Amino acid sequence: MAKYRICRLPGDGIGHDVMEACMIPLEALGLDVEWVDASAGWCMWEKYQNTVPEETWKSLESTRACLFGAITSRPNIPGFKSAILQIRQKFDLYVNMRPVKAFPGVPLNYRDNIDLIIFRENSEGLYSGLDYFPIPDDFMANELLAGKVKDAANSAISIRLFSREGCRRIVQAAFEYTRKHGRKKVTAVHKANVIRATDGLFLGEAKKVAERFPEIEYDEENVDAVAMWLIKRPESYDVLVTTNMFGDIISDEAAQLIGGMGLSASGNIGDNYALFEPSHGSAPKYAGQYKVNPTAMCLSAKMMLSWLGEEEMADKLERAIAGVLAEGKTVTYDLGGKASTLDMAKAFAEKIK
Ligand code: IPM
Ligand code: MG
Repeated sequence: MAKYRICRLPGDGIGHDVMEACMIPLEALGLDVEWVDASAGWCMWEKYQNTVPEETWKSLESTRACLFGAITSRPNIPGFKSAILQIRQKFDLYVNMRPVKAFPGVPLNYRDNIDLIIFRENSEGLYSGLDYFPIPDDFMANELLAGKVKDAANSAISIRLFSREGCRRIVQAAFEYTRKHGRKKVTAVHKANVIRATDGLFLGEAKKVAERFPEIEYDEENVDAVAMWLIKRPESYDVLVTTNMFGDIISDEAAQLIGGMGLSASGNIGDNYALFEPSHGSAPKYAGQYKVNPTAMCLSAKMMLSWLGEEEMADKLERAIAGVLAEGKTVTYDLGGKASTLDMAKAFAEKIK
């Protein structure tokens, strides 16, 4: 029996390209794994009008963790629910961890000394799916039944629901990580001066957690200021902790500082399960061309190895990736090279050997 049983879910578009590539360095590392293949996303919507079919839930539930490619989401399709959001919610993957580290040699690095990590709350807030259209006063029952509210409503409501426990546990995860990895500072990112109830609750919980980690510096900053300071002095940040939507936004911004989404990895982590995925989308126009950068996917696999406790393999993989990036020879088009997705992944594997 293999040591690990892991769900392999490439998703849509370039998710397949980068997943295939990722297998090359993982094989070179000799990870003892039984892969359980599964599908989710737009491909399943087209087939079954269900982005995560029952089969897929079963595959996920039968494994320790999931390695995930990318999925296509489309707005304005009745009944459509994002596969990744459903998986995050069902497995209560409340931590979305997004390291933002500049690898020397990457031509697009904004600064070489960026090394921060974003802890994004991943289960509540504006992404809870609590979206409504108020029924207009003059609305008739038959119109209601015919599902016409959406077009007739003069306003719309998306509820930003935070629970005390939801706020506490994401901040706790950020501080624990900071302590474990010898980092120095946690910055809570909020907009409590305007969104008083929810961000007030978040900051209140953050303060309480911070008191229990007296050796770690604790700071609070408004999200709009963070968006600016990330550009002006990104090296001043260490660990950022924030709520769901702010984390979604600033993590894309931060990714751009270190060379783009092709380098941006993430881990969706809960108490009993975790899913690792590049933060980029499925880029349908590049699907199957083996053109895109496999680094974000491979760095996500590195995070998975760490989470599994395979620190040695994780280090090896990261050093291999750093080596290939530093040489800058076998890199994809986004980094100014001509290598294919698979060539770059093979270069990682060579370095491992
Ligand atoms: C991300 C993505 C997702 C999100 C989408 C695909 C639902 O943008 O992982 O950052 O918003 O969380
Ligand atoms: Mg995003």
